[in-house]
Amino acid sequence: MKILGIETSCDETSVAILEIINNKPVLLSHFVYSQIDTHAQTGGIIPEVAARLHVPQIIPMIEKSLQSINLDHKDIAAIAVTGGPGLVTSLLVGIHTARVLSYVWKKPIVNVNHMYGHVVSSMLSQESMNIEFPALCLTISGGHTELVLLENWYDLRIIGETRDDAVGEAFDKVGKLLGFEYPGGPKISQAALNAKNPIEFSAPMLNSPNLDFSFSGLKTAVRYYIQNLEKENKKLSPQLISDIAAGFQNTTIKVLIAKTQKALEQFSIKSLLIGGGVAANNLLREELKKLSHKHKELNIYIPELKYCTDNAAMIALAGHLLAEKEISTPYNKLKADPNWEVGTNPEQ
Ligand code: KG4
Ligand code: ZN
Repeated sequence: MKILGIETSCDETSVAILEIINNKPVLLSHFVYSQIDTHAQTGGIIPEVAARLHVPQIIPMIEKSLQSINLDHKDIAAIAVTGGPGLVTSLLVGIHTARVLSYVWKKPIVNVNHMYGHVVSSMLSQESMNIEFPALCLTISGGHTELVLLENWYDLRIIGETRDDAVGEAFDKVGKLLGFEYPGGPKISQAALNAKNPIEFSAPMLNSPNLDFSFSGLKTAVRYYIQNLEKENKKLSPQLISDIAAGFQNTTIKVLIAKTQKALEQFSIKSLLIGGGVAANNLLREELKKLSHKHKELNIYIPELKYCTDNAAMIALAGHLLAEKEISTPYNKLKADPNWEVGTNPEQ
């Protein structure tokens, strides 16, 4: 069963064709167009601009996906499209494309939650989707920070989440304070490599009894630290930028690992999945390695760097899982749901 995946929830236009053969995801074609260079000029994403940039990309990309592997649309079993969460203007481009193709090609639509895509993204590089459950996914992106409990690939429940900023958002905002272009995450982790004396910031909600996160106070602490430097007429030198970046990154990763560990124990987790743009962070990836030494019985699945940030391969894979259960949405019922929570039904 070959699934066409379409992703336009934020600032990447992406199309993929995938099938699962003997439990192994096989990616047949995959294209990603990133708008980052445009958004870097304005210091962040302007939703209308993002939507407009998806429009000229999407149809040629679908044609290219089919042609590159000599497929006809008749060979496609279903169209998987991100229905939310995301920027509504961006989501609508993918949704209307899927609606039209579904009508013209007479193929079912599978409405995929974007965060479900991130949850399954590490499986794209695995030999088999047969993992041990219960599983936990730490989903960390520009819009979300979630701990998701999975009883199987279909029963998902959020057991912890951020109460304010998402972790990627905090990276981006702190990046801006340090003078980096959007997105700040990769630049912060790069700058942190040159740190000599990482600044200490207190870790938000580290010892709270729940599995929730908070990053907005940490971002404000960085802002006050920089403002105090200015008051004391001290320069934000490249060395100090690196030390602040490292301090912020250390604190953030410490909280992510601590809460993940708490959830692992609380729910007797057998497999840990990671997903989302922040999963590309090298300190996090190092700390996860250490965690695997500590929890020898735990299997940890980390996505390849190319599958951390938004892509249609993960949407096609999630769509395939749903299509196997014959889950589909009629073209005239498909809607964008910008706040769709993973594990729940979308707005119809
Ligand atoms: O998953 P994603 O591509 O988009 C959303 O669904 O939000 O994640 C983008 C986020 C941005 O906030 C970006 O700064 C962050 O992922 N990011 C990183 C790194 N690479 C990307 N954050 C920390 N360290 C990185 N290396
Ligand atoms: Zn994402």
